[in-house]
Amino acid sequence: MKGIILAGGAGTRLYPNTIAVSKQLLPIYDKPLIYYPLSMLLLAKIRDVLVISTPRDINDYKTLLGDGSRIGINISYAVQDKPRGLADAFILGADFIGNDNVCLVLGDNVFYGATMSQVLADAKNKIVDGGATIFGYPVKNPREFGVVEFNEAKKVISIEEKPKQPKSNYAVPGLYFYDNNVVEIAKNVKPSARGEIEITSVNNAYLEQGLLNVTLMGRGMTWFDTGSPKGMHKASGFVKTVQEMQGFYISCIEEIAWRKKFIDDAQLIKIGKELEMTDYGKYILSLLEE
Ligand code: G1P
Repeated sequence: MKGIILAGGAGTRLYPNTIAVSKQLLPIYDKPLIYYPLSMLLLAKIRDVLVISTPRDINDYKTLLGDGSRIGINISYAVQDKPRGLADAFILGADFIGNDNVCLVLGDNVFYGATMSQVLADAKNKIVDGGATIFGYPVKNPREFGVVEFNEAKKVISIEEKPKQPKSNYAVPGLYFYDNNVVEIAKNVKPSARGEIEITSVNNAYLEQGLLNVTLMGRGMTWFDTGSPKGMHKASGFVKTVQEMQGFYISCIEEIAWRKKFIDDAQLIKIGKELEMTDYGKYILSLLEE
C-alpha cells in the first residue's frame, strides 16, 4: 500500500503565521505538524510515501524529510500548483500509486490512541478485496467537516461536506484508505460549489457502490483538526501533557520507524546523537535503554 500526505493549501486561517511558512511545518509542541500524519502512515507500515505541497513550500519539506532513508522509508514529492481539492491528490499521485491501494492522510490532522496500529491494520485489511475505509469521530462542531449520516438501523446512508444542518455529530477525519479504483473515481468527480473536487464526493461514490466501510472512533482515540490557532494550541497542549506525564512521545517518527524495524539500533543512536541537545533527541537515545 502507498501513502500520500497532502500538505498544500494557503493556510489563510492561520495568518499571519503562515504568510511565509507552510502550515504543516509549524510546530505542534516539539515537532513539525507533518510528523503526526506521517506517523499514521508509519504505524500502518506504509513505507512508500508521497508528499504533496505547493510550489513555494515543496523544498522546505524536502529539507525536513529528505528521501526518507534516514527513517528507512522512501519519500517522493509532487507539486500542486493551486488548491483543486483533496481528491486531486489521487490525480497528481496516479503514477506514484501505480496498481496499489493507497492511504491518504491530511497534513494537518493529529491522531493519538494506544490501539492505533490495530485500527490502521484493520482499515487496511477491510479493503484487501476492494473498497474504501474511512472513519467517523464524534465532535461538537460537525458543520466544519465532512459528516456521516446514518439511518435508523445505524447504517451509513450519506456523507455531507460541511452541512449547515448536520445529520449526526460524527465528522470524517482526514485519514482515508482506498483501493486502486480511487484514481479513476477522482478523475470523474465534478467540482463542488466552491470549485474543488471534494474527498466527500469520492467517499459517496464508494458508498453508492456499497463499498464504503465507516469505522467509528470512540473513547480512547484523540483527533485534532489543527486548522486554527486555537486548534494548534490545543493539540500542542495535549502532546506536552501526555509526553510529560507518561514519558512516551507522541508521533516521534524515529521511534516508530525503529519499533517497526525500518531502522536498526545503530541508526537510532545516530539520529539521537544528532538531536542530543534537545529533549526530543534525549528521548530517542533513552529508547535503547529499555
Ligand atoms: C477536509 C475535508 C472534510 C474533513 C476535514 C478533516 O476539510 O473536506 O471532509 O472532515 O478535512 O480535517 P478542510 O479541513 O480541508 O476544510
